[in-house]
Amino acid sequence: MVKITYVTHEGTEKEVDVAVGLSIMEGAIHNGVDGIEAVCNGNCYCGTCRIYVAQGWLDKLTPAAEEELAMIEAAGEEDPNARLACQIPVTEALDGIRVTTPEFQK
Ligand code: FES
Repeated sequence: MVKITYVTHEGTEKEVDVAVGLSIMEGAIHNGVDGIEAVCNGNCYCGTCRIYVAQGWLDKLTPAAEEELAMIEAAGEEDPNARLACQIPVTEALDGIRVTTPEFQK
């Protein structure tokens, strides 16, 4: 299990244990984390699983594929730490990662 801390835009934190192999989105859904809707259930076409990855963790993530980058760009997102949580597999290297959810995702 890997510890992931999900932080709302208001600063409320929830640390949960997530199994390796799930996505960061699935870790949120399985643990009742607010702020990640995942309307398309991880198929990379809704963009409602957007997160901002804490500084220092980006290089530990699986790089974003063209499909993910296109979704983020189409949403007008400019934060370089923005990713889609459904496209990030949880690995042991992510133990302790912190991600923040945007205000528009409740
Ligand atoms: Fe829809 Fe991630 S769950 S894009």
